[in-house]
Amino acid sequence: GVTRHYKFKVVLQNVTRLCYTKSMVTINGKFPGPRVIVREGDRLLIEVVNHVPNNISIHWHGVRQHQSGWADGPAYVTQCPIQTDQSYVYNYTIVGQRGTLWWHAHISWLRSTLYGSLIILPKHNDSYPFAKPHKEIPIIFGEWFNSNTEAIISQALQTGGGPNVSDAYTINGLPGPLYNCSAKDTYRLKVKPGKTYLLRLINAVLNDELFFSIANHTLTVVEADATYLKPFETETLLIAPGQTTNVLIKTKPYYPKATFLMTARPYVTGLGTFDNSTVAGILEYEPPLNEPHQSPSIKQLPLFKPTLPPLNDRAFATNFTTKLRSLATPQFPANVPLKVDRRFFFTVSLGTIPCQGNQTCQGPYGTMLTAAVNNVSFTMPTTALLQAHYTGQSNGVYSPDFPSHPKSIFNFTGTPPNNTNVGNGTKVVVLPFNTSVELIMQDTSILGAERHPLHLHGFNFFVVGQGFGNFDPNKDPANFNLVDPVERNTVGVPSGGWVATRFLADNPGVWFMHCHLEVHSSWGMKMAWLVLDGKLPNQKLLPPPADLPKC
Ligand code: C2O
Ligand code: CU
Repeated sequence: GVTRHYKFKVVLQNVTRLCYTKSMVTINGKFPGPRVIVREGDRLLIEVVNHVPNNISIHWHGVRQHQSGWADGPAYVTQCPIQTDQSYVYNYTIVGQRGTLWWHAHISWLRSTLYGSLIILPKHNDSYPFAKPHKEIPIIFGEWFNSNTEAIISQALQTGGGPNVSDAYTINGLPGPLYNCSAKDTYRLKVKPGKTYLLRLINAVLNDELFFSIANHTLTVVEADATYLKPFETETLLIAPGQTTNVLIKTKPYYPKATFLMTARPYVTGLGTFDNSTVAGILEYEPPLNEPHQSPSIKQLPLFKPTLPPLNDRAFATNFTTKLRSLATPQFPANVPLKVDRRFFFTVSLGTIPCQGNQTCQGPYGTMLTAAVNNVSFTMPTTALLQAHYTGQSNGVYSPDFPSHPKSIFNFTGTPPNNTNVGNGTKVVVLPFNTSVELIMQDTSILGAERHPLHLHGFNFFVVGQGFGNFDPNKDPANFNLVDPVERNTVGVPSGGWVATRFLADNPGVWFMHCHLEVHSSWGMKMAWLVLDGKLPNQKLLPPPADLPKC
């Protein structure tokens, strides 16, 4: 492989959408941020220079970071943030991965404006397990907030209520024609007839899963989270924040004399307010060169619109997610751990805690909203966990006693308990090198059933099973798929149900795991796995780089 250099200057930039202009944090003044393109086996050196008042850190979402945990990026987990006028070079090599990933800020809510695609092409002599597309196009879904997202989350955390929702969803930074004052900010995908296009879809939205569809064009799903799938066709796709999905579209064989909308809007099963608006982009055929004047102008062409499922279509979500299967060929095997060394059962839940002090809080019945894994709401430390571990100074930073099971036996009844029993802590699970982990995650639905896209840093989960109601340890494992389960870095815990996953802890470091709905993570739905070094040199975390930021 070669070494590729990028320079990310973090700067303020005025950006206007929906007729609102705001000064926001960007990389190199771009929104969305720059595209990083690399080949499997290459090394990346990305220098991030902070020219804004905020503390910054960047996460390379989905990159395995083998032995390079110092480059993973979550603030206070693998590094202290990059302070104003400081810089840090993220230095890592892409090993054994190819496909669509992305990068985003990993501190507070700055990822609302700091994100971009990270595209890993196959090695020079490798090809795709599908016909080579005519063109490859990144499609990044985002959210636009007229106001400052840092203010939105700090106000929510102070008042104990839910944060303000976004004002629009975006495709490649553009809200599209269905919003007021936005028609000129529409993403247009120009295509030629009779060709195959690879769309690299990325959900960079803060707080909502999305349905996506293109009118009159079938999507062939071929990859998820940079792992190849058994291809399948669908009219509509479901994608959670943190997830990436590659789809092929075949354009019509002839110039169709029509334009087609592509739209996305949320899938939501929870309570509370959310942005239920629809983002649209336009799929536009280039008229054939021999008849440019005969074809009517784009404005007069008929416009077709896709139909998306209802906002809470749980049946669609279940059906769609069960279609995702690893390609599982000799060239791209699914290395599912078949034996299990340690079993974990995590409840993921939203809950409430009593209001602090004598103010009235904005949560249900005057309480304060919170979120937890196994009743532990994670408190961010003030120094980085990985540094504390590496230097042997973990005392007072974290404790190694994250519970493997909830305190009391969990029983899903759909009825909220009186006391959600949430405590705070900075707790981690310590795993010896090469531990084979089985992790069941159960949505407790205490405040109404809701799907949680749980994201694991440093590894992919093999998703071996899912179901509704209580996970049954005596019955459900018999149905686990250990042959071709989908492998992803972000998995949806079904609303009112459970998901079973496995991964092999073969990468030393501290690896964050959290709900990728940003507000749930802010409320504490997060924890960390500490994987110890192995004995061999290639099983050890490398020493920290000299420019690693200090707290
Ligand atoms: Cu995409 Cu920890 O995040
Ligand atoms: Cu969540």
